[in-house]
Amino acid sequence: MESLTVDLGARSYPILIGDGLLRDIGRHVAPLLKRPRAMIVTDTNVAPHYLVALGASLGAENISFSSLVLSAGESTKSWAGLARLTEWLIGEGVERSDHVIALGGGVIGDLVGFACSIVKRGCHFIQVPTTLLAQVDSSVGGKTAINVEAGKNLIGAFHQPALVVIDPTTLTTLPRRELGAGYAEVVKYGLIDDADFFAWCEANGAALLAGDSDARHRAIAHSVAAKARIVAADERETQDIRALLNLGHSFGHALEAETGYSDRLLHGEAVAAGMVLAHQFSAANGLCPAADADRVRDHLASVDLPHSLASAGVNIGGAALAAHMAHDKKVRGGKLPLILTRGIGRSFVTEDYGLDAVAAFLDGSPIRS
Ligand SMILES: NC(=O)c1ccc[n+]([C@@H]2O[C@H](COP(=O)([O-])OP(=O)(O)OC[C@H]3O[C@@H](n4cnc5c(N)ncnc54)[C@H](O)[C@@H]3O)[C@@H](O)[C@H]2O)c1
Ligand SMILES: [Zn+2]
Repeated sequence: MESLTVDLGARSYPILIGDGLLRDIGRHVAPLLKRPRAMIVTDTNVAPHYLVALGASLGAENISFSSLVLSAGESTKSWAGLARLTEWLIGEGVERSDHVIALGGGVIGDLVGFACSIVKRGCHFIQVPTTLLAQVDSSVGGKTAINVEAGKNLIGAFHQPALVVIDPTTLTTLPRRELGAGYAEVVKYGLIDDADFFAWCEANGAALLAGDSDARHRAIAHSVAAKARIVAADERETQDIRALLNLGHSFGHALEAETGYSDRLLHGEAVAAGMVLAHQFSAANGLCPAADADRVRDHLASVDLPHSLASAGVNIGGAALAAHMAHDKKVRGGKLPLILTRGIGRSFVTEDYGLDAVAAFLDGSPIRS
């Protein structure tokens, strides 16, 4: 087992990574509890695979538990899902010193985290992420949210978990497409500030996606350590450090909005294409070598991730796509900060480019095919 810490003073917490940890989780949870009781929240896809094992591991430490299984899918991260979960927690007699366990992907993690930030004015929660995206990104950092009519993640809070437990073997049941979407976020850490890790991804990404357990473990540990460092340096995104995690996300957001946040294009798939666009936009503006942008596109294409507008299934004009970007919640005083790059592993935040420049770029032919 590997262990690292998210260093946030009094709110610091450990991240444990290890194959088979799910069956051993009770031992790590027990010391945190004021009374031997926990509540587990999961979804309909995850429960049949892992709920019994997690419960048995708590039982082995004499921790009693109850569980709530919510519908799988993004629509659970909603007012209705939040109402159902918070009412259930109250009904279960949750106390402020209790710990709620989020067993699932980013949907369950975000929803449980938010519920735990408001129920009885805040109780504890533990992240047990079961998607690659959640293991390398959403389970760490304390951003919690639900979606509302006007957009995704618009209602939420910063609320850090008390513990993150990552068992990479849970990925064996994850659909290949979801694994690929999470892998895009792994590649992102290389592109942000770690060219060596991007090169590692080029050499090992295919093996990871084919199920190689060493590659999987290495990628998760490296990614989550990067995320932990960035969160510790800029917990609330008040400097430009945590914003770098949005590399590829502004372009990706436009693609997701255009495809209706649907199964047509998963978040990580949109991020893959968005990272290619961010590199190509940087190259087109003389910031980044064209060869670096080509490397990013070629690697993502080689693992069957979207790497152009066409492969992302998007075929509308640049102005319409740029208009989607204008609705991004990161817009500050009418300006959209973009994450651009000077080359692989050299990303930075800038407000130097207007949406008209982005629209003109998106109409250019090289990125359309
Ligand atoms: N809080 C953050 O910092 C942050 C960061 C990135 C993304 N997010 C949020 O995360 C969400 C996306 O997360 P996600 O990609 O994990 O989606 P998800 O939670 O919907 O999981 C994807 C699918 O895989 C299923 N699943 C999960 N684990 C499984 C397993 N081990 N075996 C089989 N099936 C499994 C789920 O039921 C679901 O159908 C979005 O709502 C996004 O906004 C949050
Ligand atoms: Zn993302």
